[in-house]
Amino acid sequence: MTSLSERLAARPVVPLVNDNDPERALATAQALEAGGLGVIEVVLRSEGALEGMKTMVARGQGMIVGAGTVLTLDQAKQVRDAGAEFIVSPGLVDEIAEFCLSEAVPFFPGTMTAGEVQRAYALGLREVKFFPASLAGGVPMLKALGSVFREMRFMPTGGVSPANLPDFLALDHVLACGGSWLTPKDAVSAGDFAAVTKLARDAVTIASSARGPA
Ligand code: 3PG
Repeated sequence: MTSLSERLAARPVVPLVNDNDPERALATAQALEAGGLGVIEVVLRSEGALEGMKTMVARGQGMIVGAGTVLTLDQAKQVRDAGAEFIVSPGLVDEIAEFCLSEAVPFFPGTMTAGEVQRAYALGLREVKFFPASLAGGVPMLKALGSVFREMRFMPTGGVSPANLPDFLALDHVLACGGSWLTPKDAVSAGDFAAVTKLARDAVTIASSARGPA
């Protein structure tokens, strides 16, 4: 089985799925995978999100499914029990970091300042989310952070789009970019999964030209 890091090295884009309907969330994830993106972050922002994640874990063959918007240690334990292969938080909470490190589950806490990145580093993390990427200073800020935190790898998310994706991916210390532009609400709610597949394909094309083919 391909590991998360291998998958991200080949296809450094992580689409966010935000849906209350578990079957539609699965269909969205399948559409993304058909477009070449098999690492899916299910954000816990609705009642049905956890069920959607479980549905993908059970039936989304070949996908690597993680949970995002994880705010508490209890939620981290819950998504881990439900099969999340990675965990993303908007900010950095020590007890979630410690839990993930002890479980050896990849954890991407949101950071946007040198102090936050340094705290993540001190906790033993070497990969963080950079959030909200565009508002936190975008590519210039990420360059500055990368120049001092030489061992850290970043996942910019928040305001990433096809327009700025190449610039983020051009940075060596960017592990992958995350975003919701791949799962637009109007297309998903209209059942237009072909549109989702096309957005995924376009992102793969952009990533390949920024990084070289997978
Ligand atoms: C996140 O959850 O990381 C962000 O809300 C995603 O931001 P985007 O909608 O700008 O991609």
